[in-house]
Amino acid sequence: MTIFFHWTEATLQIWREAFYREGISANLQFLDDYGEIGDIEHAVVWAPPKGLLRKFSNLKYIYSIGAGVTHITLDPDYPREVPIVRLQDRLLVEDMSCHIIHWVLHYHRYYARYRSYQSEKRWQRHRYPENFERRISVLGLGQTGLDACRRLKDLGFNVTGWARSEKTLDGVRCLAGDDAFETVVREADILVNLLPLTPKTIDILNARVFDRMPKGSFLINVSRGSTVVDTDLLAALNTGQIEAAALDVFREEPLPEDNPYWGHPAVSITPHAAAPTNEGSAAEFIARQIRIAMDGGKPEPIVDMVQGY
Ligand code: NDP
Ligand code: OXD
Repeated sequence: MTIFFHWTEATLQIWREAFYREGISANLQFLDDYGEIGDIEHAVVWAPPKGLLRKFSNLKYIYSIGAGVTHITLDPDYPREVPIVRLQDRLLVEDMSCHIIHWVLHYHRYYARYRSYQSEKRWQRHRYPENFERRISVLGLGQTGLDACRRLKDLGFNVTGWARSEKTLDGVRCLAGDDAFETVVREADILVNLLPLTPKTIDILNARVFDRMPKGSFLINVSRGSTVVDTDLLAALNTGQIEAAALDVFREEPLPEDNPYWGHPAVSITPHAAAPTNEGSAAEFIARQIRIAMDGGKPEPIVDMVQGY
């Protein structure tokens, strides 16, 4: 049995060790050196070359090296009949929350203003709302959204979370379903997007939403670039309807040099770096899921391809 592995060669040893610890003695094939296609039963991948997975005739499961799966499913040729197991990882979740908290505090305390005062050698404090007065709406209450909500609530912010299904979370107002979306965005002084990209969430953040958000609100997008209509966001930033945006994900990655976000004074760009996969814990998680599959069990969590996440 062969495991196809499509990731960076530099960390191959970490993955080999994780498989070894789970007693998996499979042949681990790296990148284009995939040998006998018929032997491949498991594929551990981030963004494999388009059409490649379809060639593996005996593939049982695909394991995503990220929490999202669009880097696999956007390939029109990927084998839809093969279940995708996505990454669940405490360290990834923690990193994501740290990234979000960084930007929430940056915007909440208007820290960018101090930078401009500094350039004028100006010693001046400014006022900002108390934490409980700042309304933060978090779109998505999955592994990352729940953790971000909990930590923001612990910092004293007024937090609302939104998901498809009902949730309860101590100290956080949880709303669900399409009808609640309007409330969630109307009351977002800071909007944090942690939704997966699906047919329902593509372009979900558009002019209609930005117009409904409070004047001078902020956006933190760590989900996927295609959830945002870029021209609408740029227009909202230009009028000050949205005061600033911290963008980690983009329709095209790497972000092309001529993209207007690069030079926009109200946009902060990070290169899909909010929660990079931790090799050690990801390898451990995926090795465990492969072990379960090899023992005849069902690895988890499996992406629901009807919902798209
Ligand atoms: P989960 O699948 O754990 O959670 C997704 C959440 O979104 C769920 O709460 C789900 O609701 C909700 N949701 C999905 N569709 C809708 C909808 N139409 N309306 C309302 N709510 C909806 O995902 P993760 O938390 O693991 O990750 C979220 C996304 O973050 C990933 O898909 C990926 O795109 C991105 N990501 C980005 C990273 C980065 O470094 N920038 C790193 C990791 C992830 P319900 O609970 O009811 O099912
Ligand atoms: C992602 C990830 O899905 O980095 O973006 O895990």
